[in-house]
Amino acid sequence: MQATAIAQPNIALIKYWGKRDVARNLPAVGSISITLCDLFTRMRVEFDAQLSADELTVNEMPDAGMLPRLSACLDRVAGPRRSSARITSTCNFPIAAGLASSASSFAALTVAGAAASGREPGVDELASLAGRASGSAARSLLGGFVELSNSDDDIQVRELLTPADWPLAVVVAITQPGPKRVGSTEAMEISRKTSPFYTRWVDGQEQDLATARAAVLERDFDRLSAIAEHNCLKMHSIMWASRPPVVYWNAATMRCLQTVRQLQGDGTPVFFTIDAGPQVKAVCLPEAAGRVEAALRATPGVVDIMSSGLGAGARLEGVS
Ligand code: PMV
Repeated sequence: MQATAIAQPNIALIKYWGKRDVARNLPAVGSISITLCDLFTRMRVEFDAQLSADELTVNEMPDAGMLPRLSACLDRVAGPRRSSARITSTCNFPIAAGLASSASSFAALTVAGAAASGREPGVDELASLAGRASGSAARSLLGGFVELSNSDDDIQVRELLTPADWPLAVVVAITQPGPKRVGSTEAMEISRKTSPFYTRWVDGQEQDLATARAAVLERDFDRLSAIAEHNCLKMHSIMWASRPPVVYWNAATMRCLQTVRQLQGDGTPVFFTIDAGPQVKAVCLPEAAGRVEAALRATPGVVDIMSSGLGAGARLEGVS
């Protein structure tokens, strides 16, 4: 049986950083994100009893490096006695560069893998399965504004607003397209074990979530801007103060922040956020997207720009 699913990456406005259970990949803190619409990962999973081992192609190239993580995810989704699978992934944006490619990949893989094995799990089970593979992947199961919360010994996701409720725009300034040097799992563990700010971060997250949740529900852009930038800078401060320090930024990352400050100074409704990579994501009201895109494109060191609105959650495209 085969199934194809599509999922879009999401950008966290209130960040997930740190794990409370590394083996089960459970986050230490909740998070709030927006799901994008113009970037995507499409995953086709075909179980084939004739295959001796799983096979993976990413954008038509065989990819042995990513395969173990995808195979482990399929084992959990379809059960360890499943047939081997032919996995075909297509992605229209740079992979492993802090653009949340793991979120869209594992959300799409979970949905396609479940359908290809004849299963119809509910959203809680899908979130649990996707979250085991990548903490942020569970958020890409849903569209618009999504909150991920810790439940007793698992996670839950829920949609706070649909994309139509508050159609924000996102402009991504790419300052370095290659894969990042330190993966987020490793960096989170360095932070947890060595950063003097880590416990304060975990303790303060509920307050940030409450502020951001209220701002989203009230569509209060200024309030959301202030809390999202604060939460992002706190997350990077933890990393900078770790031993060894984890610094994902480069000079162009910093210049993009200055560009966003200048835009704000001119009255443009925009704020920045940065994940585990050097790219800057500028979130703005849709009418400001053209101005934000032009200003970031003119910022020295920016090598590419991607723009997106908000989109839907992961969904099946076909099963046969
Ligand atoms: O899901 P992971 O393991 O790629 O971690 C994502 C971490 C951040 O992107 C930095 C923050 C987030 O909440 O997405």
